[in-house]
Amino acid sequence: MTAWENHGNHPLMNFTVTETGAACGAFIDKIDLREKLGSTTITALRQQWLKSHVLIFPNQQLTDDDLERFSQYFGAFGHDPFISPIDGRDHVIAVERRFDEQAPVFAEVWHTDWSFQKVPPAGTCLYSITIPPTGGDTGFVNQHKALTEMPGELRTRLEGKMAIHSAASGYSPDGIFGNEEAEADRSMRIVVSNDARATQTHPLIRSHPETGSEGLYGCVGYIAGIEGMNDQAARELLMEMYAWQTREEFQYMHTWQENMLVMWDNRSVLHKANGGYDGHNRLLHRTTIADRVAA
Ligand SMILES: [Fe+2]
Repeated sequence: MTAWENHGNHPLMNFTVTETGAACGAFIDKIDLREKLGSTTITALRQQWLKSHVLIFPNQQLTDDDLERFSQYFGAFGHDPFISPIDGRDHVIAVERRFDEQAPVFAEVWHTDWSFQKVPPAGTCLYSITIPPTGGDTGFVNQHKALTEMPGELRTRLEGKMAIHSAASGYSPDGIFGNEEAEADRSMRIVVSNDARATQTHPLIRSHPETGSEGLYGCVGYIAGIEGMNDQAARELLMEMYAWQTREEFQYMHTWQENMLVMWDNRSVLHKANGGYDGHNRLLHRTTIADRVAA
């Protein structure tokens, strides 16, 4: 455990860090996110975030104002296409499922948020309001560790390759969310659009814009192809990369409690929702944090 001690007597200038013991993630305690945080605390949190990739703040009683204020300590809001925000807010979306909902679980595949954008969001904040008694864990997988430990032979075949990212398989009219029959009973405010067919390239192996550490960026799904490779060869390579980059030894599987805020670094981890809670309501509020280079 690390305690960030400060010399002032302000109670918010201290917090404690407890690593999960898995491949990423740390719990942050002894901090009240309803209060305004000082620049020293924000800097210390940012450093811990870059180190642990996923920060977990249990036992926080947050309003949407608190969630928005906390998010903005780390950057401007990201641009969230294809999901309409909750009423009265421009930058908060509800990740939501009713106890009797028939639509498939949202985001139950590994991905990094909005990787099809030119400058994808640096981070995502997810705050739990209603959490079922079982199921619904969120998986994280450390893409810096996955690259560091990758066999050289596979890494050689990924080096220098540019991945073609697109939201088409999800959010275009003929994507997963365009299936009107399957989607008829979904709580979440998903808006399919032809805009989802746009493509954007990013290197398969990318330097983290803040730390400079190299990691794998993205995976098959939002990655629809690889520049200079035919579809079949690209698919085979992406599936080989996927099998490696999602290995259990690189994962942290997060179990939620209510009133918990989790903030992850989209530049260094993939994440994935999990079901297993049919018969129970589930509700979380989400913001995204723009990357600094987007400002
Ligand atoms: Fe996501």
